Amino acid sequence: MCGIVGFIGKAPEKVLLEGLKRLEYRGYDSAGIALKFSDRMDLFKAKGEIKNLEKIVPNETTARIGIGHTRWATHGKPDETNAHPHVSSDKKWAVVHNGIIENYIELKTKLNDFGYDFYSETDTETIAKLIEYFYKDDCNVISVLNKTISSLKGSYALGIINKEQDGIYFAKNKSPLYVAKCGNEVMLASDIICFKGFAEEYYPISDGVFGYATENGIEFYDNLSKIDVAPIPLNLGDYSNLNTYKHFMLKEIFETKTAIKNIIEYYSEKNNINKFDGRDISKINRVKFIGCGTAYHACLLGADMLRKKAGLDAEAYVASEFRYQDVCVDDKTMVVLVSQSGETADTLAAFELAKENGAFTVAIVNVEYSTLAKNADIYFPIKAGVEIAVASTKAFSAQLSVLNIFAGLVGERLGKNSDPLYDVRKLFECFDYGNINDFKLLADVLRYNDSLFMIGRGDDYYIAQEASLKIKETSYINSNTYYAGELKHGFLALIDDATYVIVFATDKNVFTKTVCNAEEAKARGAKIILFTCFDLSEADAENFYYIIKVKELGNSLQSVLNIVPWQIIAYYTSINKGINPDKPRNLAKSVTVE
Ligand code: M6R
Repeated sequence: MCGIVGFIGKAPEKVLLEGLKRLEYRGYDSAGIALKFSDRMDLFKAKGEIKNLEKIVPNETTARIGIGHTRWATHGKPDETNAHPHVSSDKKWAVVHNGIIENYIELKTKLNDFGYDFYSETDTETIAKLIEYFYKDDCNVISVLNKTISSLKGSYALGIINKEQDGIYFAKNKSPLYVAKCGNEVMLASDIICFKGFAEEYYPISDGVFGYATENGIEFYDNLSKIDVAPIPLNLGDYSNLNTYKHFMLKEIFETKTAIKNIIEYYSEKNNINKFDGRDISKINRVKFIGCGTAYHACLLGADMLRKKAGLDAEAYVASEFRYQDVCVDDKTMVVLVSQSGETADTLAAFELAKENGAFTVAIVNVEYSTLAKNADIYFPIKAGVEIAVASTKAFSAQLSVLNIFAGLVGERLGKNSDPLYDVRKLFECFDYGNINDFKLLADVLRYNDSLFMIGRGDDYYIAQEASLKIKETSYINSNTYYAGELKHGFLALIDDATYVIVFATDKNVFTKTVCNAEEAKARGAKIILFTCFDLSEADAENFYYIIKVKELGNSLQSVLNIVPWQIIAYYTSINKGINPDKPRNLAKSVTVE
């Protein structure tokens, strides 16, 4: 979370603001920039989105260097005082930081003893003061930086400037950071999307590496030794813009079909689908799927697909729990990490644990230059294109499609006779976005609810979980999910005649049972909304307050047809409530802290 950007060159105020806008997906609680002039350093900070900062930053300045930050608060409330950049007591050093310094209280206490006072509640201010403290006795900044980062425990991507020096210092550990140059201009950023239009190549920074950039070039250090870093060509697709849409969330939902098409095209290439070539997976006896939020819901469905298509023992885990459970991972385990961004801290931590235990790791990612994509044994791109809205939509459908291909490939390797692309092709042929007017009508009803219940069995239950997450994060409605059969074991106590219960029933094997569970809620006064792919007789239909019908696909990618309507319903419920669905309160797109 949090995005940092730094720039050396002409009009840093403009470049920093533009960079911060591109990084706003990483947090939008507050933002700030520091601009270095020949004789001074000016700070600008504002609460909320970058547009608030934009109002107070002067249009044209003579500054040549600056650093900027967009924040997702971890330590201290989101206000101007806690907004970055943070400065040293002598106001000579300014620091922007993404990550968490786990030992900041210990460091702060020591610095307090040395006479340093703190004005903010952040861990970052400690870094500014630590640099100042070391710099007092050692004017070699590289050595000072080495001492500083050696004192830090936790994660950081840092951009640092000094009011009397013409460059930007930087350091990285477990938070993304990249640097690029063009002529004698240099840019530092949390995401390479900031380099689009600026440079043709960029330098990745490894964990533990720090350095110094000036108009004359970039130096990288590991401990105190200078190291060479090879540039990588900047290969980004089109940077997403809204076109005629009002919000990225809606635009991205309507990019689902293109994503499925991209997946079919990409995986139809022999070189792209033969991911397991040269790999012996015959000894694998269990598979663990790991992710967070929406990606975790994809894992639940992915594990189910693998059990069905490959007959392997497969389980899904929430990444933040996986690390602290007795998870039985060894060299016969395949660990599949699902992440849109490939930078989610909990997922990366689970990945490291899996590697330490000798597992074979597979990443299912959207961002192909991400840490996860780079470090997993193999990775399957989901080809969804840039996803900007905080609520993940097209990426979820793309994850399911690729997980289905992955499950088919593993099955094929283990001797099951299947065409890994069959289900996805069928999905593409059958795919549509459903009856938007029906969805809008339901969104009109849901806007007045403070809470909701969603029930289902099997895959329907997993989709209810994802639908519920979409409703929660974009509409702030307390939407709860239960296994349909569990209602009677306690949850019925919550039902009264103001309750809406949404019943997900798209699996014919359990349709009748699920609907019977809904009847139990109806008998207690609940209004039942049926979500199904089956036709109902007129008499049966009368039992329901509202029915949403989707197409029947007949394979496990039915889940894609099932989730898209709920993404649309969540979008319109959010709009009805006057919420910006692209930037829900308290959230960020990429969660790079544990
Ligand atoms: O980038 P990732 O897929 O690893 O992100 C995981 C979750 O943070 C993410 O899916 C989150 O739950 C979304 N806001 C859901 O819409």
